Amino acid sequence: MRGSVLLRAASAVATFTGAVSATGGFCVRKKVIIDTDFYNFSDDPNAIGIANAFMSWGEIEVLGVISDIRSRYAPPAIDAINTFYGHPDIPLAISKPVDNSVYTPRNSFSAYTPLTFQKTQDPLYTEYPAYVDQLSQRFPEDTNDGENTTDPVTLYRTLLSKAPDNSVTIAAIGFFDALYLLVDSKPDAISPLTGLELIKRKVTELVVQAAGTGTSFNIVRHNPLYPTHVLNQWPTKLTFVPGFIGSSVRWGSRLTTEVDLQKNPVAWAFNTTIGYNKTHQSWDPTAIYYAIRGLDDVYVYNKTGGSVFFMPNGTAIWRDNVPPTAPQNWVNLKISNVTFAGRLEGILLWQPGSAISPAQSSCTGDNSTKPGSGGSGYGGNATVTGGGRPTPTGAISSGSERSISIGGLTVAVIAGIVGMYLYT
Ligand SMILES: *[C@@H]1O[C@H](CO)[C@@H](O)[C@H](O)[C@H]1NC(C)=O
Ligand SMILES: *[C@@H]1O[C@H](CO)[C@@H](O)[C@H](O)[C@H]1NC(C)=O
Ligand SMILES: *[C@@H]1O[C@H](CO)[C@@H](O)[C@H](O)[C@H]1NC(C)=O
Ligand SMILES: *[C@@H]1O[C@H](CO)[C@@H](O)[C@H](O)[C@H]1NC(C)=O
Ligand SMILES: *[C@@H]1O[C@H](CO)[C@@H](O)[C@H](O)[C@H]1NC(C)=O
Ligand SMILES: *[C@@H]1O[C@H](CO)[C@@H](O)[C@H](O)[C@H]1NC(C)=O
Ligand SMILES: *[C@@H]1O[C@H](CO)[C@@H](O)[C@H](O)[C@H]1NC(C)=O
Ligand SMILES: *[C@@H]1O[C@H](CO)[C@@H](O)[C@H](O)[C@H]1NC(C)=O
Ligand SMILES: *[C@@H]1O[C@H](CO)[C@@H](O)[C@H](O)[C@H]1NC(C)=O
Repeated sequence: MRGSVLLRAASAVATFTGAVSATGGFCVRKKVIIDTDFYNFSDDPNAIGIANAFMSWGEIEVLGVISDIRSRYAPPAIDAINTFYGHPDIPLAISKPVDNSVYTPRNSFSAYTPLTFQKTQDPLYTEYPAYVDQLSQRFPEDTNDGENTTDPVTLYRTLLSKAPDNSVTIAAIGFFDALYLLVDSKPDAISPLTGLELIKRKVTELVVQAAGTGTSFNIVRHNPLYPTHVLNQWPTKLTFVPGFIGSSVRWGSRLTTEVDLQKNPVAWAFNTTIGYNKTHQSWDPTAIYYAIRGLDDVYVYNKTGGSVFFMPNGTAIWRDNVPPTAPQNWVNLKISNVTFAGRLEGILLWQPGSAISPAQSSCTGDNSTKPGSGGSGYGGNATVTGGGRPTPTGAISSGSERSISIGGLTVAVIAGIVGMYLYT
């Protein structure tokens, strides 16, 4: 039955109600690939949790998550978060060989200097920051080892070749090792296109957690050759979410004090890296929010029309007078940091299985859980509200929804928000 849901029409939602909330998404299920340096910072688990919540709400589809850190523990840790949100089958990838190191450490702009991870070391696995290996030990997941995942270029090429043209957003919230290899990849059995051709055809926008001017952690911390090579020739829309935004948006105390740390891997990871009732900067969450919702009521484009250029050492310069081949922008915050902090934290305070607040999303949930799970995209035995599973009669039933049939269309009224489905 679920296959008969053809379309959830965003414009129709607006037409029927005029009541799409200011923050509301349009339920077009934007396709997002996340490329993360998931290792010791709290902001990668937070960003991946936020993406999963939006997927549960039906706003996006996370096509895959790429780990650009070679720790064998990163993919299972990511899987633990995806699984918590009811999305255990999101494809994951990491470059091989996986090993026990994090990555070749490079200290800012100077010579290679070993980094220390003392604050985040697990005494049993001194090579790793604390939460990454423990996430997979404490929370359900079935990846077990990064070794069991596919190669990042293979996954990128597969996901892109299967996607409709101009349909994919890539959120680069980490380093660029995998994108570097993708850009230079040759035609193969997956696709007759080169990596750059695939990107040009399939990727609408690359969202980068870094600044369009000066130096940024994700660009210079690791090997600047990779981001420089990727970003200086990026053929489609390129948007930077600068670090000063995430630095000014701090939250986390409610996440650790109001959420069950033994059940929620994102809250547990935050508590473990940052601590109980503490706040922290939110670089990757601010970037993933833009990747998911675009400007929304949160951002404005600041710096448009020109283009970015990365010097070999990774320093970016913004060239106002050099027009890009496709739009390049960086964003500034339009709402207060306090409001945005509350909104981002609120997304993670939402627990799988609970009702979707219309203030958070006008969408009604995804249908990605497997048949028989009893849920509707909320992570297993959810108290299902919304979800839009059609009954045999074609009406939509579940939770608090009411349905009205108008001709061949079924309109679901959910807490004042209207979603429309077309049935064959
Ligand atoms: C719901 O799931 C079916 C497959 O079971 C899929 O074809 C359809 O696109 C999904 N609908 C949405 C809105 O994601
Ligand atoms: C993560 O590791 C970096 C070193 O790369 C260190 O500077 C930073 O303090 C660590 N973060 C946390 C939250 O421990
Ligand atoms: C994954 O890796 C683990 C540890 O190396 C191994 O025992 C397991 O069989 C592998 N396969 C799966 C599907 O987990
Ligand atoms: C908002 O920004 C101000 C000024 O930078 C800062 O003092 C405050 O902690 C920030 N609040 C949040 C919630 O991020
Ligand atoms: C949360 O962090 C605090 C340290 O800030 C620690 O004492 C506590 O045990 C942690 N809670 C869990 C459930 O890990
Ligand atoms: C968290 O810290 C604040 C002070 O910053 C305090 O007022 C509050 O009681 C603490 N909450 C918990 C649950 O410990
Ligand atoms: C753009 O940023 C500059 C400084 O970085 C600031 O002065 C200006 O107000 C910003 N414009 C917008 C539209 O945010
Ligand atoms: C990066 O390279 C440029 C051009 O050579 C130079 O002007 C700049 O000072 C360098 N930046 C750093 C942080 O070393
Ligand atoms: C979910 O439902 C299954 C089957 O009904 C049951 O075995 C399992 O204990 C339930 N899990 C939770 C967390 O309620």
